[in-house]
Amino acid sequence: MRSTISINSKFPATGTTIFTVMSAHAAQAGALNMAQGFPDFQCPPGLVKLVNHYMKEGKNQYAPMPGVPELRRMISAKTSSLYSAEYDPDSEVTVVGGATLALFCAICAIVRENDEVIVIEPAYDSYIPAIELNGGKAVFAKLKFPGFQVDWGEVKKLINFKTRAIIINSPHNPTGMAFSAQDMQQLEKLVEDTDILIISDEVYEHILFDGLEHQSVARYPKLAMRSFVVSSFGKTYHNTGWKMGYVLAPEKLTAEFRKIYQYAAFSANTPIQYALADFLEDTKHYLSLPDFYQEKRDLFRNLVKHSKFKILPCQGTYFQLLGYDKISSKSDLNLAVELTHNSGIASIPISTFYHDKTDNKVLRFCFAKSGETLKKAAEILCSI
Ligand SMILES: Cc1ncc(COP(=O)(O)O)c(C=O)c1O
Repeated sequence: MRSTISINSKFPATGTTIFTVMSAHAAQAGALNMAQGFPDFQCPPGLVKLVNHYMKEGKNQYAPMPGVPELRRMISAKTSSLYSAEYDPDSEVTVVGGATLALFCAICAIVRENDEVIVIEPAYDSYIPAIELNGGKAVFAKLKFPGFQVDWGEVKKLINFKTRAIIINSPHNPTGMAFSAQDMQQLEKLVEDTDILIISDEVYEHILFDGLEHQSVARYPKLAMRSFVVSSFGKTYHNTGWKMGYVLAPEKLTAEFRKIYQYAAFSANTPIQYALADFLEDTKHYLSLPDFYQEKRDLFRNLVKHSKFKILPCQGTYFQLLGYDKISSKSDLNLAVELTHNSGIASIPISTFYHDKTDNKVLRFCFAKSGETLKKAAEILCSI
């Protein structure tokens, strides 16, 4: 429809996310979509059955704003058993329609005009727009290439009286890096005696490999007391399209979070909440996720090991980075588009996760795929 209204855009420089862009290229080219982070297999049938059950039973109206009590209690119990951290289901656990919304509301709740927020890059792309929309300024520390470790000394240099928060993400999208206990201790030291808050994006908390333990901020009382912990059921139960997640935070922080969330969405999908509450009783599913995804990671890495791509370390998440400096000197964005159209495989260029478009000649491939898809992908990659 033609409109003569003129809009002074709040985000003149912002386009479509790289996930949408690469998925559109993949669809147009009929390419294998290893770009966007979603599984090509089904979520547990028992969970679907439970959602159906609760829909038929009539659980179809608004849920309470912070989430149905049954689910909040289960989340609290799971956190207690995994991380020995106690969050009160009534005042410290909030069920939210997806981690993206949770991150947005947490940022909205705490960031004011001219506040600085430390973002560790490469970074998931929703953080910066949310910071800027609230008048804040993102300041950046880079993970050290090629291992993608945090240089905590660099983070320390960014801290000043304007620092409102630090956003961390482990296991880390897009690199597959995971924080160690030493990382957490360094972070603890950095923020000690400050009022700096932490937003800890832990959506891949159940996807860690080689026996590594997830270093949730919830495990560290001195960090937990200043943190919003954000998690996503979409990653855990292979149903990213359901957009369900939750936030854990001390009562004071949760109160501020809920002030925003109640007007951003009010509440999340009711029948899915009841279903998740029941399904969480079966701890086997999420406890078996490391093995489930490690098998996929190892299969993919083994299949591409004779290609010209360089396989980077992957400690967690369902993303594998491949370096291509022996193949091409093109920018990662150009190469990703070219491979989609000419070779039939779509990936995500890592430069798009940096504000200054740092290009380490690395592409991200999602291995949350069936064995058959992984084999097809590897065949293509080995032929390049
Ligand atoms: C690091 C990270 N945070 C947050 C999200 C968003 O999760 P959700 O789909 O629950 O909004 C994603 C999804 O890809 C992610 O990778």
